Amino acid sequence: MTDDVTTQDTVTKRLDEYRPFPFELETVHLDFRLDPKRTEVRARMAFIPKQPAASLHLDGEELELVSVAIDGRNLLRDEYRVSVTGLTIHAASLPEQPFTIETVVRIVPEANTALEGLYMSNGMYCTQCEAEGFRKITYYPDRPDVMAKFHVTIAGDAPVLLSNGDLVTQKPGYAEWSDPWPKPAYLFALVAGDLVAHSGTFTTMSGREVALNIWVRKGDEDRCDFALEALKRSMKWDEEVYGREYDLDIFNIVAVDDFNMGAMENKGLNIFNSKWVLASPETATDADYERIEGIIAHEYFHNWTGNRITCRDWFQLCLKEGLTVYRDQCFTRDTRLGPVKRIDDVIMLRARQFREDRGPLAHPPRPDHYKEINNFYTATVYEKGAEIVGMLRTLVGEEGYRAALDLYFERHDGQACTIEDWLKVFEDSSGRNLSQFKRWYTDAGTPVLRVSDTYHDGVYTLRFEQVTQPTPGQAQKPPRHIPITVGLLTPDGREHAPSQVLEMTEATQDFTFENLPQKPVASILRGFSAPVSLERNVAPDELAFLLAHDTDPFNRWEAGRQLAQDALVEMAQGKPAQPDYAVALGKLIADESAEPAFRALCLQLPSEDGIAQTLHDRGITPDPDAIHAAREALATGLAQTHQTALGDIYDAMAVPGPYSPDPRPAGQRALRLAAAGLLNRIDGGQRAQTLFESATNMTESLGALSLLVQAGIDDGALSAFRERWKADRLVMDKWFITQLAACPPEIAVERAEELSDDPLFTWKTPNRFRALMAGLSANHAGFHRKDGAGYRFYADWLIRLDPVNPQVAARMSTAFETWKRYDAERQALMRSELERISASDGLSRDLSEMTTRLLA
Ligand code: PHE
Ligand code: ZN
Repeated sequence: MTDDVTTQDTVTKRLDEYRPFPFELETVHLDFRLDPKRTEVRARMAFIPKQPAASLHLDGEELELVSVAIDGRNLLRDEYRVSVTGLTIHAASLPEQPFTIETVVRIVPEANTALEGLYMSNGMYCTQCEAEGFRKITYYPDRPDVMAKFHVTIAGDAPVLLSNGDLVTQKPGYAEWSDPWPKPAYLFALVAGDLVAHSGTFTTMSGREVALNIWVRKGDEDRCDFALEALKRSMKWDEEVYGREYDLDIFNIVAVDDFNMGAMENKGLNIFNSKWVLASPETATDADYERIEGIIAHEYFHNWTGNRITCRDWFQLCLKEGLTVYRDQCFTRDTRLGPVKRIDDVIMLRARQFREDRGPLAHPPRPDHYKEINNFYTATVYEKGAEIVGMLRTLVGEEGYRAALDLYFERHDGQACTIEDWLKVFEDSSGRNLSQFKRWYTDAGTPVLRVSDTYHDGVYTLRFEQVTQPTPGQAQKPPRHIPITVGLLTPDGREHAPSQVLEMTEATQDFTFENLPQKPVASILRGFSAPVSLERNVAPDELAFLLAHDTDPFNRWEAGRQLAQDALVEMAQGKPAQPDYAVALGKLIADESAEPAFRALCLQLPSEDGIAQTLHDRGITPDPDAIHAAREALATGLAQTHQTALGDIYDAMAVPGPYSPDPRPAGQRALRLAAAGLLNRIDGGQRAQTLFESATNMTESLGALSLLVQAGIDDGALSAFRERWKADRLVMDKWFITQLAACPPEIAVERAEELSDDPLFTWKTPNRFRALMAGLSANHAGFHRKDGAGYRFYADWLIRLDPVNPQVAARMSTAFETWKRYDAERQALMRSELERISASDGLSRDLSEMTTRLLA
């Protein structure tokens, strides 16, 4: 029913083309009559003209328009135009006074496999609107700066009918919801289905009682308790730390099995991938528990940072995401083991964001153009966005940060804001000028920070030099404002003075420290105070000293990591291993005063992808097979050197009694598995076998399974695991991913092929698709097999998934983002797969933008 046949909208959208919407939209009434094949949506929107407008455009895609009326009068066919992007009402038909538009459209939830808009999952209706999915539900100004009050009625054959806000009325087959808080359309949600609730209450700081419900499929209700408790802890934390109280009488969370992302912060009705809600000791690992807690917190925190204050346009995505990730990271640091969480976050940042920043997909945390915004839900927007907030806090201090945030909420509540608004509250509350600091938002790339030092007559000087390589579309990289937290240690391991923050603003800058009786050992970038790549020529014995003595846990771990990295770089080039790392690690293993979780992190070797990156950074072409062999050899060497100590740790870290996901026992399990992981190379998999058979929780069971697969002695274990868990979709995802990620690289592609024929490989379910593909790409040497079989398999599946679910296909294409690191043969193979994808018929806007950027 479209007037023209323009193909999909592939224009580039630009930040500097922002124009305010010429109308105000006060309220919207939506009436849904649900039907899998033919859902009817009636929308009534009250518009107030703000300025003379040429016409009124309402976004809409894949809708069947039944009628459109203004102030009760049905419009004639020549009063409006319908295109593939929406409905445009001509100026002549628009009243100058406030008016109401009423539309009726039909949609087909059952046919929606892209999982954007209104779709079905296991017979249940559910919506996903961020970023631009609402336009697949009804015609609407689908942009975040249009905020309206939503009133929703739902008629449908389902026992539970949910939407945002407060419940007004409810009877069988009908419910009415009203949300008093104006919101953009991307925060709209509707859920209908045969669901059961796990419920609780929370009393807010002003004494209001809030009903909490976690809605799940029947049979899952006994796996909700941890998420509910995490929600209560999050609500309390936001009150205590940010002074933010919840603002409705009800808070609903729904778990769905088919979901493109992790979770979604719809107002008062969060929708979660069931993977990030449901947990029981038998089915969820310690890592799952921690993630669930973090994601519950993240979505809850969005209520203030995202919903009450939202984004003016999608270029500002990191305004809500960077801040909210920062908030959830701090929550986890406060609730669990702070230093360990910080190290975990940095490992993740380097693995995903630094990798992105060094490749063809590099973009600023606030991009200034895009074709498909769904392609910008990236590690740069999220994780680097969070690092930037952390740097602001380091610069203005604890109290300054709270003052800035108080001002942000006071000044901007109810508004749709920009990064400029955000920085302005920091400037106004601290009196600082942040114009140079702003480059963190507008410039892409990870600065490389080189350090050298000198010591003369009691004066110690640190010289820093910063360089950022060009990134796509940005050749020039002016210096940034970098907070560098530094501590100085005496040769016997004491602190000279408390840590201090050096503010670097020049390309090259010296900082001097006076009255030092001896040359100190500098601990630089403590707590990873800025997302930069630190390059420093440090002697191995100085690193060993820091690993043993640094009072900053992050840098202590970092020193060990540096030693491991250096050893692996040598070994991957066929040189013998230096003993420094093994010796230094020996001391740490024996240090029982350190947290088990921390020691576990120190025992974890850098990933093969990380080693490949380091080699590339040092001008060496990475050879995936050599990297794999080097890492195996280092692990084997460590196991041999520390066999007794590791065996003692393995025995001592057994956690007796019933399972608890608390950080301490989880840390013990992590250390125990790390020890088993090294010993696995020399004990013939004997510990793994015993652990697999005696495991009473998923952490041990999956950990042991992974070791058996890695040792190539999984006979029976994989099939036993499959048999036991085949009816459990969340556990089966783990079965798929674990065996691919852990298996010997030479069998990874064949294994992936076999698994793709398994009847349980329901590839249209995002979690299952991701499990298989991410499993393969996590197997670095397997994915990068010399003959290109890994690339071909992977590309085949992206091509197949794209017409069904373009968002997931596009996101998974990032497996190829490192293609330029490798040798000419591998580059050619990857390039030709990317070209093959990009030449596929009817390629989506999502995947086509990705392949274009990847190939540029
Ligand atoms: N806004 C969600 C979050 O970060 C992520 C998301 C984006 C979910 C787009 C669905 C679609 O919490
Ligand atoms: Zn978010």
